[in-house]
Amino acid sequence: MKTTVATFAKMKSEGSKITMITCYDYTMAKLVNASEINSVLVGDSLGNVMLGYPDTLSVTMEDMITYSSAVARGCPDKLVICDMPFMSYQVSVEQALTNAGRIMKEARVQAVKLEGGRRVVPQIKAIVEAGIPVCGHIGLTPQSVNAFGGHKVQGKTEQAAKDLIEDALALEEAGVFAIVLECIPEKLAKIITSKVNVPTIGIGAGADCDGQVLVYQDMLGMNKDFCPKFVKHYASLSDTISNAFNQYDAEVKSGTFPSQEHTFKIDDEVIKKLY
Ligand code: KIV
Repeated sequence: MKTTVATFAKMKSEGSKITMITCYDYTMAKLVNASEINSVLVGDSLGNVMLGYPDTLSVTMEDMITYSSAVARGCPDKLVICDMPFMSYQVSVEQALTNAGRIMKEARVQAVKLEGGRRVVPQIKAIVEAGIPVCGHIGLTPQSVNAFGGHKVQGKTEQAAKDLIEDALALEEAGVFAIVLECIPEKLAKIITSKVNVPTIGIGAGADCDGQVLVYQDMLGMNKDFCPKFVKHYASLSDTISNAFNQYDAEVKSGTFPSQEHTFKIDDEVIKKLY
């Protein structure tokens, strides 16, 4: 049965943990679809992990639609959420609604996510009123990396923690179906999770959130040099992939690949006529 926003609400009410993973392409989406993971985020982290930018600021609506539609085609059984990229919703409520609608129509995902607390409440209300589910995102919101002065844990002072609690309550009031809490202290995430009735999905926010999300390249260990505190490597794909690339290179150069097993045949009578 397909995961929906209603599944998220039910899982929070039952105390069942929600799993989410990022995804950006059709092949990986099919693997996620065949897994037990509940939901998929086509994050604008694709700017980093797929496009090689230093941050998410250059990601466009076209990028998000291209990658999200591939994921939606590969992941028919999961709730697929698409990030709204930087400056696709900050300018005005009208801009936010137009772009959220475009994502739904063109990418065929089931929800959008946008970053920010009280300052984006008018945009969230308008999108929700149009019948589009919205996931909130507070804490270390990467689109504001320059305002934060880097990728830093948020909510560590009394005022910053109170602000995040107020932001979470405002997002719930605006109608979000879930809130991503990124890089905040676990005790603050626990308080927020107990105060809101919608599920919290943590990344670097401790085990008391209602669910967890990780970037797939990080959790699969595809970049050996990148393992921040909140990431666990569930595999070491960078080694597996490097070994495969080098074995392929060696076999081609030594003439052992392709072997007969990987080669097409033709009738010898046909061949004779070609000389
Ligand atoms: O863009 C992204 O992948 C995200 C997650 C890290 C929550 O927003």
